[in-house]
Amino acid sequence: MRVLVTGAAGSLGRVVVPGLTAAGHDVVGLDRSPAPAGEDLPWHTVDCADPDAVAAVFALQADAGAPLAAVVHLAGNPGEGSLAESLTSHTVTTAALLDAMVAHHVDRIVYASSNHAVGGTPRSAAGPEGVVGVGTAPRPDTFYGAAKVAAEAVLSLYADRYGIDAVACRIGSFLEQPTTVRHLATWLSPADCVRMVEASLTATAPGYAVLYGISANTRAWWDLEAGRALGYHPADDSEAWADQIADRAEDEVEAARVGGPFATEEFWRPAF
Ligand SMILES: NC(=O)c1ccc[n+]([C@@H]2O[C@H](COP(=O)([O-])OP(=O)(O)OC[C@H]3O[C@@H](n4cnc5c(N)ncnc54)[C@H](O)[C@@H]3O)[C@@H](O)[C@H]2O)c1
Repeated sequence: MRVLVTGAAGSLGRVVVPGLTAAGHDVVGLDRSPAPAGEDLPWHTVDCADPDAVAAVFALQADAGAPLAAVVHLAGNPGEGSLAESLTSHTVTTAALLDAMVAHHVDRIVYASSNHAVGGTPRSAAGPEGVVGVGTAPRPDTFYGAAKVAAEAVLSLYADRYGIDAVACRIGSFLEQPTTVRHLATWLSPADCVRMVEASLTATAPGYAVLYGISANTRAWWDLEAGRALGYHPADDSEAWADQIADRAEDEVEAARVGGPFATEEFWRPAF
């Protein structure tokens, strides 16, 4: 499948691009940064928040006889910004891609959403299994989380209107290895990240679906069942590092809500 990977120069992109290529997909990179040195993929240096530029990428690919079949949308600022910046980075970019997908009959998108879409959820509100499910109400912890919720809503809207299959992956902490107590619950390993994206790309007719993008962590805070139903079978567990992780004073406050530090007063600021 020919897949446009946005944010291809970023930390997830640099793992997902070779992972999808190894799985046999034809990957086309897109980022507002130029292709990293040595990267020989087809590459578009474009800002995803510019709908005309995004539409031009789809048209160029089609005109070159290499039409896109799916999008993996990883472009976006992974941290907190102003409300306007966050909405542009996450919601506007998603909508620009969806409009181009509709115009070019591309019907699958995998989106890098975030645990911060539900980050305000108290740990005490976890279900009987001790985990938060995909059915929990959106509860952002930051403007970043609010923009992810809005992006998810636009994906759901386009799924209903145009029959697009859209999988929103609420990613935990994408890291080489966990380094804090919270990460023992939230870690997504690089190999599991590739498994997650590949499963979301190839699941049969998911419609609009949400999964939690974490590894099979013994101390997980989110339910993996929805992901497993889509074919995402994580193989790594942060517990392998538990002995090496020292307790910190912040651990208790970071465990109060599933968004961890983003759900603390440190991130409170006015929208304007
Ligand atoms: N890293 C994590 O633990 C984590 C957790 C949850 C969600 N996510 C989400 O995953 C996605 C990727 O995160 P990352 O850690 O790889 O971030 P990153 O900053 O390492 O990479 C993001 C890439 O996207 C590009 N980019 C940003 N805005 C763009 C735009 N408007 N148009 C084109 N390119 C743009 C950047 O140049 C960069 O190369 C983000 O949407 C982030 O919110 C990441």
